[in-house]
Amino acid sequence: MRILNVVGARPNLVKIGPLLREMRRHSEIEPILVHTGQHYDEKLSDVFFRQMGIPEPDVNLEVGSGSHAWQTAEILRKIEPVLIERRPDCVLVVGDVNSTVAASLAAVKLGIPVVHVEAGLRSYDRAMPEEINRIVTDALSDYLFVTEEDAIENLIREGKPRERIFFTGNVMIDALRQFLPLAQKSNIAEELGISKDGKVQPYAVLTLHRPSNVDSPEALGVLLDAIGEVAKEVPVIFPVHPRTQDRLRAQGSQHHAGIRLVPPLGYLDFLCLLSHARLVLTDSGGIQEETTALGVPCLTLRENTERPVTVDEGTNEIVGQDAARIVAAAREALAGRGKTGRIPRFWDGHAAERIVEILMREFSREHTEVSRG
Ligand code: UD1
Repeated sequence: MRILNVVGARPNLVKIGPLLREMRRHSEIEPILVHTGQHYDEKLSDVFFRQMGIPEPDVNLEVGSGSHAWQTAEILRKIEPVLIERRPDCVLVVGDVNSTVAASLAAVKLGIPVVHVEAGLRSYDRAMPEEINRIVTDALSDYLFVTEEDAIENLIREGKPRERIFFTGNVMIDALRQFLPLAQKSNIAEELGISKDGKVQPYAVLTLHRPSNVDSPEALGVLLDAIGEVAKEVPVIFPVHPRTQDRLRAQGSQHHAGIRLVPPLGYLDFLCLLSHARLVLTDSGGIQEETTALGVPCLTLRENTERPVTVDEGTNEIVGQDAARIVAAAREALAGRGKTGRIPRFWDGHAAERIVEILMREFSREHTEVSRG
């Protein structure tokens, strides 16, 4: 069984790691890895390959950055000959980035079945580019693997057949469970000066990269002012995404001195930092899940989430862009009264095993049916 796996952006790499590892344990599977090159910086791409032991991609399409239409079109154009040449039994895509939707569209037009891992998540906010990518990818997909039960309902509502939807858990949490012990050896806390005599001081972590938060100087200003209040109480470590870096530069980066800007971090350093934080403030989807898995309070700087289980069961609280609400919720968390939660079902480190087992079963059945027919 030849599975062509597609990655493009940073969060894809964290998800594909456990899947490839599991595929390589089965001699009947031939995994192929295609990197679209949507992310290309050492810190957004290479470091994840190295630290997570992901094999070098078989093909790199080297598309780079551009507008949504341009980037999607480049991936479509460049991946088609690869699919024709490699003739995979299926194309596996993860998450909701432009590479996910573009690879799915190219595959389905060639009659190649599409497998979507992390299907069915919906924010019901169409202003979010990822929401469009999620809807379109799921519409094109033949096998849908979901991380939480709400996703099953979302997919059924959109007309997907129940027998093609599989609740298998969260591959990103597989990676977290695998790498957390190694991440604890990171000395990022010492490097950032937030550890004294081997004891880590209280601190918060901030990430921001959604266009709705960083592309508008007003929105970014409101958020940084609110977080500046939090930074009067504890240092706020802020690994800055390149998109955000551009916007801060354009704006003359007005922010409180307690907000510590650092370059994007590798997987192990970031996981270490998350795991010891008193509080995390973020607009990332993945970090809402990682904090729930780690039991660390998370304030989501958005008006909605496509990952409701992190709110219903986990440590996540949606605070939007409301400065008073952000500061009040942060103070509660810093006082030790942050949200507590439980680990969602199947976030147990075995999602990739379940997915690969189901794919082998489904494809061997299809094969038997085809040869019988
Ligand atoms: C993309 C995904 C987003 C995901 C995020 C994770 C889409 C629509 N967005 O957003 O869902 O949460 O990745 O990081 O697919 N840049 C670099 N180096 C790189 C890549 C990008 O400097 O290696 C800069 C470029 O200036 C580029 C900008 O970052 O224009 C944005 O990159 P892009 O891939 O378009 O979107 P992200 O904001 O990274």
